[in-house]
Amino acid sequence: MSAVLHEKVLDNSLNLLLEGFPFIHNRVKRFHSNIFKTRIMFQNVICLHGEEAAKVFYDPDKFMRFQAIPNRIQRTLMGKDAIQTMDGEGHLHRKAMFMSLMTPDSLYKLNRLLTQQWQAAIHRWEHQEEVVLFEETQDLLCRVACAWTGVPLINEDVRNRASDFAAMVDAFGAVGPRHMRGRIARKRAEAWIEDIIQRIRDGKLKVPENSPAHVIAFHRDIEDQLLDPHMAAVELINLLRPIVAIAWYITFGAVALHEHPVARRKIAAGEEGYVEMFVQEVRRYYPFGPSLGNRVKNDFTWGGHKFKKGTLVFLDVYGTLHDEQIWENPDEFYPYRFRYWDGSAFNFIPQGGGDHFTGHRCAGEWVTIEAMKVSMVFLSRYMEYEVPPQDLNFSLERMPTYPNSKFIMRNVRAVE
Ligand code: HEM
Repeated sequence: MSAVLHEKVLDNSLNLLLEGFPFIHNRVKRFHSNIFKTRIMFQNVICLHGEEAAKVFYDPDKFMRFQAIPNRIQRTLMGKDAIQTMDGEGHLHRKAMFMSLMTPDSLYKLNRLLTQQWQAAIHRWEHQEEVVLFEETQDLLCRVACAWTGVPLINEDVRNRASDFAAMVDAFGAVGPRHMRGRIARKRAEAWIEDIIQRIRDGKLKVPENSPAHVIAFHRDIEDQLLDPHMAAVELINLLRPIVAIAWYITFGAVALHEHPVARRKIAAGEEGYVEMFVQEVRRYYPFGPSLGNRVKNDFTWGGHKFKKGTLVFLDVYGTLHDEQIWENPDEFYPYRFRYWDGSAFNFIPQGGGDHFTGHRCAGEWVTIEAMKVSMVFLSRYMEYEVPPQDLNFSLERMPTYPNSKFIMRNVRAVE
């Protein structure tokens, strides 16, 4: 038995904010250890890195989500007491509801909506001098998210609603005004969606029975009770907001297409299997979620280290996606690496690891992959555009991050 290597600091919260995405990986390299203890938010936190660590992190007998997600993230990104914070039977039951919305038929509908919205957007962009892709795709995805779930949305509201969903995402690693902006956005969105839930229940708003808004409005928990309207709104937003968040990956994808013209030509030519590998590489290479949190459920030992009940444990998502033991030349953008990827549920974890149905792994991972594939094909094959000189760099210290110029395009033309 060995004690976990302990970084002797009073508190590392500020360093976490300053170092950003590589915070855990920096220390893994410095200590030559995939596990170390530090202090964050004045608590002891064990940080884990790599595939073997991810396997243990996703063992529900060892870990729970109860009190693992800071209030400030719940009040901005995901909503208070939502599925992300649940454990055991309650979580399984709620997750089954989410996964019932991810059928091939439902994904097909989403795919059709996306195709329509991309076509409409390109025609609009042809008349614009300049297109800021990061913002335009938030709007595009917001329209798709609302149409797919059954939430009515008029044209005049698209920009404001999309920017509220984006603000919730943008707040997760923030303090100060950016955090406050996320809180206000969440309050406004919750009030809007709660009213929609109420109107669906009262029969005043008719939505298709199998639409996500209807399913969530009439979902019953394990005590056979309807969710209270606020919680139902929080969970419906747990579909709307992350669909808008795909704008982060699409924008990074556009940067990758621009920097790798050969890849763009392969996608345009429809090379078998290539667009999927490209999308996977975008999700691996570019930063989105830095780490995930859990609490130890019961005392256990792993790898000779003691984990005490109640200890907070972080899993290094970004570092694991850039680990040279798992990925050859991890800092190189190379889609073909996914030809040889072993398909492990624990080494490629941009949207969490483990099982989609029984664990906390992202319910919308297939939606994300599909939406990105459609988007990369539109950007490569169905439109031409110029990319004027601009600052496409992104900061690894900012969480979340995006290219500084938000990807500006000029002279957009549709290609039939
Ligand atoms: C959970 C990332 C898109 C719905 C998660 C988790 C991550 C994540 C890291 C937590 C995994 C864990 O705790 O182990 C992302 C990223 C996305 C994305 C980076 C794309 C930009 C989506 C989409 C949807 C969605 C499109 C729905 C349409 C959810 C839900 C959960 C979740 C409901 C909670 C699952 C649970 O706690 O069991 N996502 N996600 N996400 N995601 Fe996503």
